[in-house]
Amino acid sequence: MAIITKSITDQIYNIIKEKILFQEYKIGSKIDMKEIAEEHEISIMPVRDALKRLSNQGLVVNKSRVGFFVKEFSEEEIENIMEVRNMYETYCLEHHFDNLNFDEIKSLYEDIQCQDSLRREKFDEVDSKFHNIIINSSENQFLIEHYEKIEDRIILFRHLDKERIKKANEEHCMIIESILNGEKNEAVNKLNEHIRNVSSSAAKNIED
Ligand code: NI
Repeated sequence: MAIITKSITDQIYNIIKEKILFQEYKIGSKIDMKEIAEEHEISIMPVRDALKRLSNQGLVVNKSRVGFFVKEFSEEEIENIMEVRNMYETYCLEHHFDNLNFDEIKSLYEDIQCQDSLRREKFDEVDSKFHNIIINSSENQFLIEHYEKIEDRIILFRHLDKERIKKANEEHCMIIESILNGEKNEAVNKLNEHIRNVSSSAAKNIED
C-alpha cells in the first residue's frame, strides 16, 4: 500500500511541478487541492504530500489554514538565486574549460542556429543542455548536486520573460563561438553577462 501511495505522490508531484515551472499555475496563485484530486481521481492525501515536497523545494508556500500557493519571488530573491547560479557556472567555465564536452557544444551550436531553436520547447531543451554542459565539465558530483537544487527555479525564471528567446539564443551563440575559438576569458565574460541579463529580465517581469 505504501508503495502505491508513494508512486501516486511522485506522479502528482511531477504534474504540479511542471505546471508551476511552465507558469500554467501563475506566481502567487492558490493551488486548489480538491480540484487536482478530482481531476486525477485520487484522494487529497497524495496531493497534499506532493505540495509539501514542493514547498520544501521553495516552489510552493504553505499558508496555514489558507492553503498552498505558488511561491512569489521578490526581485531580490531572483537576483540572489541568479547570483549563486552565476557563481557556479562562471567558476566551472573558468576552471574546467579544457574539460568541456566540445563535441556536444558543436552539435548544440548547429541546433541553435536553426530557426527551430526559437520555438519555446526547443529553446528550453537547448538552454538546459548548454548550461548543464558547463556545470558537468567540473565532474564534481557535489557541485552538480548543489546546482540541481536551484535548477527548478532557473527553469521557472526562464519562463517569466517570454520575449527573451531570440536574444538569449544570440547570447548562447556568442558564448559558444568564444568557447570553440579557445577564448576562455571572453567566454567567461559573455556567460556572466548572459546570466545577468536573464536575472534582470526575470526580476523586471516579476514586478508586473
Ligand atoms: Ni542560457
